[in-house]
Amino acid sequence: MQQKIIILDFGSQTTQLIGRRVRELDTFCEILPYNKFPKDDSGIIGVILSGSPYSVHDPEAFKVDLSQFVGKYPVLGICYGAQFISYANGGKVEQTGTREYGRANLRQFDKDNPLFKGFTPDSQVWMSHGDTITAIPSDCHVIASTDDVRFAAYASTKHPLWAVQFHPEVFHTAQGTLLLKNFVVDICKSRQEWSAASFVDSTVAELKAQLGNDRVILGLSGGVDSSVCATLLNRAIGKNLTCIFVDHGMLRKNEFRKVMDAYQGLGLNVVGVDASEKFFRDLEGVTDPEKKRKIIGRDFVEVFNAEAKKITDAKWLAQGTIYPDRIESLSITGMTIKSHHNVGGLPKEMKLQLCEPLQWLFKDEVRRVGYQLGMPERLIKRHPFPGPGLAVRILGDITREKVRILQDADDIYIENMHNYTMPDGTRLYDHVWQAGTVLLSTIRSVGVMGDERTYEHPVALRAVTSQDAMTADWAHLPYDFMAKVSNEIINKVKGVNRVCYDISSKPPSTIEWE
Ligand code: XMP
Repeated sequence: MQQKIIILDFGSQTTQLIGRRVRELDTFCEILPYNKFPKDDSGIIGVILSGSPYSVHDPEAFKVDLSQFVGKYPVLGICYGAQFISYANGGKVEQTGTREYGRANLRQFDKDNPLFKGFTPDSQVWMSHGDTITAIPSDCHVIASTDDVRFAAYASTKHPLWAVQFHPEVFHTAQGTLLLKNFVVDICKSRQEWSAASFVDSTVAELKAQLGNDRVILGLSGGVDSSVCATLLNRAIGKNLTCIFVDHGMLRKNEFRKVMDAYQGLGLNVVGVDASEKFFRDLEGVTDPEKKRKIIGRDFVEVFNAEAKKITDAKWLAQGTIYPDRIESLSITGMTIKSHHNVGGLPKEMKLQLCEPLQWLFKDEVRRVGYQLGMPERLIKRHPFPGPGLAVRILGDITREKVRILQDADDIYIENMHNYTMPDGTRLYDHVWQAGTVLLSTIRSVGVMGDERTYEHPVALRAVTSQDAMTADWAHLPYDFMAKVSNEIINKVKGVNRVCYDISSKPPSTIEWE
């Protein structure tokens, strides 16, 4: 049976990070809302309680019945998790005025405690808490302190229960990974069997059993998730998988052909549909960003469905939905930050069942599965690209000519990014979460080329670093790289006479301009 760690989510921004760290220890984990501890306990080897935006004293604070798991499995409380365990067991959590945000050092720790096995003294930990634990439950003892926080970590003498006030999951906690390893591997006894190879083997076997001889349809976007999903399904059911790749005319330069070639090289059964006429026609004269998106969404569904209907005996629709798409993180207001997105408006009469083989994977795991399946690196490392394509990167109305200008400028930008080597030998492209070019076609500015005055459009280059696209910062691209790209675009792309760089973070800006 597959072992798993349950992570109960009390709404912290770092809950997903805890999940990723546990997976990096080759251990499967599930992130569940704080009040949804599973009734079926098969495979559970340990429980982690996350942080929270709340104080335990807030009337709306998330509370949980600890007896569901304390004493049954090893438990690790992190930040709010640690405070809640104390609060619920006769300890004390107070607003002492010593709020702690940022770095602290573990001045003392119990080196014999299994949680700190291998720890070196004085290591840095990351704190982020308003309340402080001022008394721990009577059956617990302190196992680590910082200068300001006496109960930086404590453990129970009665149960396999540990609690840490700091965040082991974040990069700034120097030995955080070691602490989690001590918990997951030594304390919970993970066999560390979760790997890309084991995932591929078990998923292919499951898909074979689940799908039998059924026909499956999958919409390909050129992106990593749908491509890995298709390759995995292809391994399981081969020609019974039909992939549909719609060209709406607003893909990157030569993208349709390149991606079709890559898919065919992988042995996928792909139907490529050039529907660009329809999209350009329906978008003619439309300038409002939301209207553009709606038209593209509607047209896409129409084209996809018309193609899907041709596969009359299809029983399944496969999608490359991944784990972060499904986790419902709780924000302070209890609202969903990110909800499950999928292809809207399936042809209902087809009565297709949904197959989502990547639904348990984080993005980096999807990439590892891609490597395991022998997919080309360029397909696996590809930056995210929005469904509506370049349409959301052209201000104002969309014409084939504007798309052509943007494709040419963008191609120069992205190819240079692929070719630029950083001092450590890695490629600039791999340091950036996502990059793209925006055509500011509602703006013209004056320039001079040779002896001639020009009056043309600017383009804005965008490049961001991010973990999950929910927040992002503008990437600090090397100046010599920017100089080369700018020169090349202005010299080679007719219709562009100025290049700007977008230095806005998200929030308050978004990654895409429209
Ligand atoms: P924003 O602009 O909201 O983008 O900061 C966040 C991430 O989502 C991508 N994006 C989309 N992806 N369909 C998609 O599949 C869309 O309509 C869409 N709009 C934005 C965007 O490229 C970024 O990675």
